[in-house]
Amino acid sequence: MSQMSRIIALVAAGALAVTMSACSSGGTAGAGGACNVGITMPTRSLERWINDGEQLQKKLKDAGCTVDLQYADNKVDQQISQLQNQIAGGAKILVIASIDGTALGPVLDQAGKQGIKVIAYDRLINKSPNVDYYATFDNYKVGQLQGNFLKDQLKLDSAKGPINFEPFAGSPDDNNAKFFFSGAWDVLLPYVEKGTLVVPSGKSPKSDAEWASIGIQSWQSDKAQAEMDNRLSSNYGNKKVQAVLSPNDSLALGIEASLKSAGYKVGTDWPLITGQDGDKANVKAILAGEQSMTVWKDTRKLGDQVFKMIQQIAKGEKVEVNDEKTYDNGVKVVPSYLLEPEVVTKDLVQSKLIDSGFLKASDVGLG
Ligand code: BGC
Repeated sequence: MSQMSRIIALVAAGALAVTMSACSSGGTAGAGGACNVGITMPTRSLERWINDGEQLQKKLKDAGCTVDLQYADNKVDQQISQLQNQIAGGAKILVIASIDGTALGPVLDQAGKQGIKVIAYDRLINKSPNVDYYATFDNYKVGQLQGNFLKDQLKLDSAKGPINFEPFAGSPDDNNAKFFFSGAWDVLLPYVEKGTLVVPSGKSPKSDAEWASIGIQSWQSDKAQAEMDNRLSSNYGNKKVQAVLSPNDSLALGIEASLKSAGYKVGTDWPLITGQDGDKANVKAILAGEQSMTVWKDTRKLGDQVFKMIQQIAKGEKVEVNDEKTYDNGVKVVPSYLLEPEVVTKDLVQSKLIDSGFLKASDVGLG
């Protein structure tokens, strides 16, 4: 046998072994069979979605499933056509992290008619009966952790105030943003009402229901930056902002850039700022004292749970959920699996994020 034909034979044997293990571990017929999965994620512009998509894709492929993974550049129409393609391409299960949680009704009707199961990933899909399961972190708790962090750091129960404070909320089309805001606002609003916290910009919702009035469309850092620039230049004069409620890391980055350009300095007048996700740039900001915390959601655990759901669906088993009351999408209460978010501050970066392998020390300038 020539060298070349030996290589070809080896490659062919390898391919056969992969195909066989795919069939046996997937336990399904043909290319993926019942485990034929379409994954649609909102955007590649945020680290977390890249990790979420790639981790889940790998787990599924390793188990012999057929997988199509798509990102939609935060464009609703693009996500809809990706879903149409996946339905036409024979997907049996759709895993969707939606961009606009209310825009998928018609495409999911098609999925429903073909008996395709739909898992809402991280973000709930609203106003559609064709959402079978929802897997996410406890979104209300994310906001509560941010609110309680500010409450404890500012000692709001004993502080006299007035403490200058600016709240932000996430994208108005993302159902999660409402939960994040309510969780935080239920903690903080009483102190705004008492006057311990004051909001010089006036961008202070009177109730949870008004959250979208301060929402930052598409969670964009540059929009958060422009908004903070405006608030500071129009309302602050000689005053300093002392605390900012930022619902996530992408907004926090914009707010931090704005503070820098307004001349704020870490160690002198830099305010407290919250975040969420544990993105590399934000963990660096935490280490540099520019961000006070992030609410960490170990997205590997979310991937594991969704992987389990997919296997249970593909095998016709009962799907494990742990919440059947919280997430009403306007048509039905979607059976959900909620995971626990946790606070990470500077002193917890090593033990929580690095020792667990979520980030590499070198990603954040350590080690
Ligand atoms: C996710 C957050 C993320 C945000 C922006 C939310 O739906 O739960 O983790 O920061 O979207 O992408």
